[in-house]
Amino acid sequence: MDLLGRSYLKDSDLTADEYRAVLDLAARLREEKRSGRERRRLENKTVALLFEKTSTRTRSAFEVGARDQGAHAVYLGPGETQFGVKESTKDTARVLGRMFDGIEFRGFSQSDAEELAFHAGVPVWNGLTDQWHPTQSMADLLTMRDHAGRPLEDVSVCFLGDAANNTCTSLLTAGALVGMDVRVAAPALRRPAAEVWAEAGALAAASGGSISVTDDPRAAVSGADFLYTDVWLSLGEPEELWDERIDLLLPYQVNAALIEATGNPRVGFLHCLPAFHDARTEIGRRVLARRGLEALEVTDDVFESPGSLVFDEAENRLPTIKALLVATLAGDDV
Ligand code: CP
Ligand code: NVA
Repeated sequence: MDLLGRSYLKDSDLTADEYRAVLDLAARLREEKRSGRERRRLENKTVALLFEKTSTRTRSAFEVGARDQGAHAVYLGPGETQFGVKESTKDTARVLGRMFDGIEFRGFSQSDAEELAFHAGVPVWNGLTDQWHPTQSMADLLTMRDHAGRPLEDVSVCFLGDAANNTCTSLLTAGALVGMDVRVAAPALRRPAAEVWAEAGALAAASGGSISVTDDPRAAVSGADFLYTDVWLSLGEPEELWDERIDLLLPYQVNAALIEATGNPRVGFLHCLPAFHDARTEIGRRVLARRGLEALEVTDDVFESPGSLVFDEAENRLPTIKALLVATLAGDDV
């Protein structure tokens, strides 16, 4: 694997072999840290973390991952820089590229991530845009590989709910790339974009994987190894859309009946988080009270069940992001 100097803007920027190699490296780095043998491969490196949107996991994984490897991370949060308001993407890229060894970008537009990567002269890692969330899917695949106990080529995952969003786009693409059976259950109005579906189909054909889509959640989950859902309204989408989304997506809520419909007593539950599974959040309280609901995309009993892998999944953001930093900044010599 030689990813030195490469950017990672979407899942299909890596070949299937490269993707598997990054997962292997992530598992190795996780074990090194757990056993207190972590070797620092990024001494004297400095990375910029440019965020147009808020974050808990992604920011933490980049900061801790960099620190663990001896690098320094500088957080440039929403509204804290000239980016977008007083300075163009191209100029920001050229400035940050002169000072940093790499740039994490979380923002709205995928084209901003691409423009940063084109002009920065250093690797750019996509920490989420409206279109893609490729560091998330890497943690998702590592979590499924850990828990399935068999190769990802023999594993099926079903995404339910807002399948037009960044998380589903990346899960679908990464899963198809490495040969998984990826199923989507979503209404016609919230399905992956046509070009995303076409690329995933081509990747699945090459890898021996499969992709399918239906509006029937019970049929989609039958026999699945993992069920996956995400919020019904993503960062940056207007709150006025909540009612429309709830009406559209409530039939795709992951609840006990749907878990039962898998027919798989060992089915695992995944969610990138944050999740609306109870009324312990500001938005949750508002939306749930107005609609008389107890949960949105996943019920609390499923979220808290033994089959729920969401905190393993969150923890896996760290070694996967760390592996990307090491592979792209230290290269083969890892
Ligand atoms: N899953 C995820 O990306 O979480 P954050 O928004 O907290 O980074
Ligand atoms: N689809 C969600 C993912 C959050 C990690 C969003 O974009 O807000």
